Amino acid sequence: MRENRFIDRNNRTINYLRISLTDRCNLRCAYCMPEEGIQCLPHPEILTYEEILRLARLAVRGGIRKVRLTGGEPLVRRGVLEFVRRLGGLEGLEVISLTTNGVLLADFAEDLRACGVSRVNISLDSLDPERYARITRRDAFHRVLEGLREAERVGFKPIKINVVAMRGVNDDEILDFARLSLEKPYHVRFIEFMPVGMENGWTRDRFISTDEIRDRLSRLGPLRPQEHRDMDGPAERFVLEGAKGEIGFIGALSHHFCSQCNRLRLTSAGTLRGCLFSDEEIDVKTPLRSGASDEVLAGLIQRAIETKPAGHGSLLQSPRKCSRPMSTIGG
Ligand code: 5AD
Ligand code: SF4
Repeated sequence: MRENRFIDRNNRTINYLRISLTDRCNLRCAYCMPEEGIQCLPHPEILTYEEILRLARLAVRGGIRKVRLTGGEPLVRRGVLEFVRRLGGLEGLEVISLTTNGVLLADFAEDLRACGVSRVNISLDSLDPERYARITRRDAFHRVLEGLREAERVGFKPIKINVVAMRGVNDDEILDFARLSLEKPYHVRFIEFMPVGMENGWTRDRFISTDEIRDRLSRLGPLRPQEHRDMDGPAERFVLEGAKGEIGFIGALSHHFCSQCNRLRLTSAGTLRGCLFSDEEIDVKTPLRSGASDEVLAGLIQRAIETKPAGHGSLLQSPRKCSRPMSTIGG
């Protein structure tokens, strides 16, 4: 067992760091960005790979065991493979996972796997190419499917499919998505639509709770609960009778899993963020760029963990507690 542990003020062990590699993206999902995209940071404002690696090394030394790479879309950043290879060399880091929209995954899957990424989460909100294009404002459905196939071929385990459920947008596909887990070893996860960023189309009408989704899935037969494992995220996991894969529910709004939250986020702009729904952040870029020692940087990581909010309260009662666009934080 590792000795080092990050424990926050609420006695949560923080062992999971999400790193947003870029705020850029090759899709324009309606719930994430306006059609014209968002003002991206100029490249010098984004942490360099060198800077990220230095922070990651300190974080792992302190107790982080799992890193997830996110974006925007992480695979659009140049040099990502070489970065992942170096990240994979960090002693003490047990798991590297990647959240991607899948558009470039067919090109990268094999190399990512070889560089030490073991798990991928692929965002896919519709199984219909035209609807997919409406939601993401890009015609990339078939490339994502290729990416998915390639991910399976090279052996990522597990392959998770993230579906943001929205009433009147894709809720008629909930059963089809769930059925995917019968035939394929995928973990299909339904995520509650969250009011993130300034204006992302979130309304109460469009919101569907994971309880309602679960209810609808009862038509497919009983859902057998899966045991919660160490370092599992907030998903509640189930298996359908005879299924190769699983179904997960991420009740980001309706279920309060703050008490089990084990994560810290590093934004591409170089801030540490304790909670998706609290705009409190600690700047690590300025100290990094003005010659701070490892001790000082490690102290900032420690502080970010210590000041992690206990919880975010009811988001259904008072939504919009995150003013940064999701693409700059990485979900
Ligand atoms: N609500 C729920 N999920 C979201 N994502 C992005 N924006 C939202 C939102 N407003 C999801 C993406 C991806 C993950 C990183 O976060 O679809 O699966
Ligand atoms: Fe869609 Fe993710 Fe890109 Fe946002 S960052 S536009 S959610 S793929």
